[in-house]
Amino acid sequence: MKAVVLGSGTWGTALAMTLCDNGHDTWLWGRTPAKMEEMAAKRQHPQLQGVTLPAELHITADLSCLEGAEMVVCAAPSFAVRETARKAAPYLTRDTVLVSVSKGIERDTNLRMSQILQEETHYICKVVALSGPSHAEEVSAHLPTGCVAASLDRKAARFVQDAFMNEYFRIYTSYDIVGVELAGAMKNVIALSCGACAGLGLQDNTKALLMTRAMEELTRLGEHLGGTRRTFGGLAGMGDLIVTCTSMHSRNNRAGMYIGQGMTVQEAMDKVGAVVEGYYAAESVYQLAQHEGVEMPICRCAYEVLYQGKPARDVVGELMGRAKKDELLETTWL
Ligand SMILES: NC(=O)c1ccc[n+]([C@@H]2O[C@H](COP(=O)([O-])OP(=O)(O)OC[C@H]3O[C@@H](n4cnc5c(N)ncnc54)[C@H](O)[C@@H]3O)[C@@H](O)[C@H]2O)c1
Repeated sequence: MKAVVLGSGTWGTALAMTLCDNGHDTWLWGRTPAKMEEMAAKRQHPQLQGVTLPAELHITADLSCLEGAEMVVCAAPSFAVRETARKAAPYLTRDTVLVSVSKGIERDTNLRMSQILQEETHYICKVVALSGPSHAEEVSAHLPTGCVAASLDRKAARFVQDAFMNEYFRIYTSYDIVGVELAGAMKNVIALSCGACAGLGLQDNTKALLMTRAMEELTRLGEHLGGTRRTFGGLAGMGDLIVTCTSMHSRNNRAGMYIGQGMTVQEAMDKVGAVVEGYYAAESVYQLAQHEGVEMPICRCAYEVLYQGKPARDVVGELMGRAKKDELLETTWL
């Protein structure tokens, strides 16, 4: 099978390596010719230390590699998905399966990544979202990892499962593309918040409280928008939340930690030096929650810290001092 991965960041590269390992004719496309030439010559990715790119992997900055591709994986950062899909669209056919692996919600439109891919490719392709607890660094080192391939089209989801699954990458299918994409995008906001807790010197109890109650509010919005509650307890939900909130690989977590330690948002983003998806997602989640009338106190506080300059320390007291609640019921005891 011919597969093309669009986006040569760490995740696009790790996925291209996996497809290559599985025997597919795999092409990795990046927009900067000099960077792609260097990767092709050195057989290394600058951010994936100690990893050698397979000799069979084609590395290019020429979009004509898309011709004849049966599967196209879009691994651009969420803010560049529309632009990337627009460039790719002329090469795609009704037989192409498009795989979205970017985690985000589009600013202003509040669209999920698969919806952008569909719009830009005029609804001709089948679209699958692949998401879950998966650091590129670990997948490229062949450490056991699990993800979900979600689509309304069961055949397309199975096609993606077959293409990626091997002894170190286990793929489940799901029909709940709405829940899978929303969970993956929204958990980055919580990873930032968890990092801020660490930066403030707060410890395990606080992080567990934050993660659990945050998952409840993500689920509330996700269900409201058409996702399935069980997805939020699965790999793309709780699984990804755990990995992002507890790992040193997570840029969202690190950015939050710097903010908790007192850096400005801009200083924190600069120090991380790579895409911090949770920063963009915080605004979209806030807008969505406001628009839909869904109560999301943790995400609202994250938005106020990131976009309105509220000190991270102030929101701890605010969240702890909210009205008494029942854990299971929306209302208080009568
Ligand atoms: N890194 C991971 O482990 C991981 C795992 C799962 C999902 N993801 C998701 O995959 C997506 C990509 O993440 P990443 O970690 O590979 O990013 P990255 O920061 O490693 O790389 C981003 C890449 O995008 C390119 N880029 C920047 N602006 C662009 C534009 N306008 N058009 C096209 N390309 C552009 C950059 O040159 C760079 O190669 C994100 O949405 C992320 O949430 C990442």
